Amino acid sequence: MNIVILAAGQGKRMHSNLPKVLHPLAGKALVLHVIDTARSLCPQTLCLVYGHGGDAVRSTLDAPDLAWALQEPQLGTGHAVQQALPHLQGEGTTLILYGDVPLIQAETLKRLVHAARDALTILTVNLSDPDGYGRIVRDNAGRVIRIVEQKDSTPEERSIGEINTGIMAMPSVLLGEWLGRLSDHNAQKEYYLTDIVSMAVAAGLPVRTVHPENEWEVLGVNSKVQLAELERIAQRRTAEQLMEQGVRLADPARFDVRGELLCGRDVFIDVNCVFEGRVELDEAVEVGPNCVLKNARIGAGTRLAAFTHIEDAVIGPDSRIGPFARLRPGTELAEDVHIGNFVEIKKSRIAAHSKVNHLAYIGDAIIGRRVNVGAGTITCNYDGVNKFQTIIEDDAFIGSDTQLVAPVTVGRGATLGAGTTLTRNAPADTLTVSRAKQVAIAGWTRPKVKNRE
Ligand code: UD1
Ligand code: CA
Repeated sequence: MNIVILAAGQGKRMHSNLPKVLHPLAGKALVLHVIDTARSLCPQTLCLVYGHGGDAVRSTLDAPDLAWALQEPQLGTGHAVQQALPHLQGEGTTLILYGDVPLIQAETLKRLVHAARDALTILTVNLSDPDGYGRIVRDNAGRVIRIVEQKDSTPEERSIGEINTGIMAMPSVLLGEWLGRLSDHNAQKEYYLTDIVSMAVAAGLPVRTVHPENEWEVLGVNSKVQLAELERIAQRRTAEQLMEQGVRLADPARFDVRGELLCGRDVFIDVNCVFEGRVELDEAVEVGPNCVLKNARIGAGTRLAAFTHIEDAVIGPDSRIGPFARLRPGTELAEDVHIGNFVEIKKSRIAAHSKVNHLAYIGDAIIGRRVNVGAGTITCNYDGVNKFQTIIEDDAFIGSDTQLVAPVTVGRGATLGAGTTLTRNAPADTLTVSRAKQVAIAGWTRPKVKNRE
């Protein structure tokens, strides 16, 4: 089987510098949805027809299994498929897809391709508002005889509700033959792929129509309004799949997965959370409202409170994170770790049962078990040029408002007094404190207002 994806159209109505098919839907370029669905059908040839200014498309998507056909200028859908022809296998079936129709499902395409062994098959739908589409014209016996584009149609033909989605399949040999006979004698002076329908009819080849299971599968993206509509459809489907697997969502309409979200049993996700890249939530994880998680793994039973932001991090089980916590790349937390509000952690490992509960920055640190990091603690990991490591061993207690000037180590069981600026290692099982001595000045009086003239 050959698959041809048409993606040379300009996408003027997107009003964007980004080529239309590279706009993201659920975190993935429109055309990549189509490519991935096409790949799942295991074609021998997968050819993308790209257009003028499409170098960005090619360089973004390039992969060894893709053949590229440049269409320049763009003279219509038939002309587009002509450009792909040199790449196509002569035998078998060819399937035509659109790069801007991203939600098409493999099941629908399998039915279309299956019916195309000895026929031309067209994916069609009946629309209450068919405006703008090519219409499926049938004879009195209900057989398809041709497709007429809206701009070439009579008022009578315009009242037909059955439209061409553009997705078709046919025997490859015949496609090659038909493409050579297309002309641009029509209202738009374009080479219409749809003209092959009347050629098939004339040759006595059966023309069959197949319908998608869901109408949204054939929706195209021409504007940012349509892009947003499709985004909601895609998100709704992801939400439903997760709920069917046992995930509880506070509101499936306020939930966005821009990548892959894998959930264990009894996961709960509150409103307005965004999941990017690959995110794994183990059993019984609870995600509070307004959390953003990117490339993260969260251990079983852990609770993320509201407004938690996590990127490239691994969180152990039974932990408490947030609200307003920021876990940056390279954060690795073991089990039962507590990270509280306004705490930022970067490239640091924190072992089991440790707590960093209030207003702290932990960067380039290794923290042991049962450590308590007091409010306002900062690892001074950066001298403006290089980064240095802080090590805090098991059972240490870091008093509030401490600065740990790295590289520095706090020994096992050590205590740092509040306000300490630690510039040398703190010995184990010892109190270390660096603090100006407190003085009380007896007899001191507050300044008085001076006599005014
Ligand atoms: C086409 C069909 C129409 C159908 C409609 C469904 C033809 C002649 N008409 O309309 O029957 O109802 O799709 O949306 O086929 N493209 C190229 N090169 C070109 C022209 C288009 O690659 O020269 C690609 C576009 O990027 C797009 C697809 O083909 O992915 C369809 O193009 P578009 O202009 O949206 O469709 P129409 O030609 O208006
Ligand atoms: Ca067009």
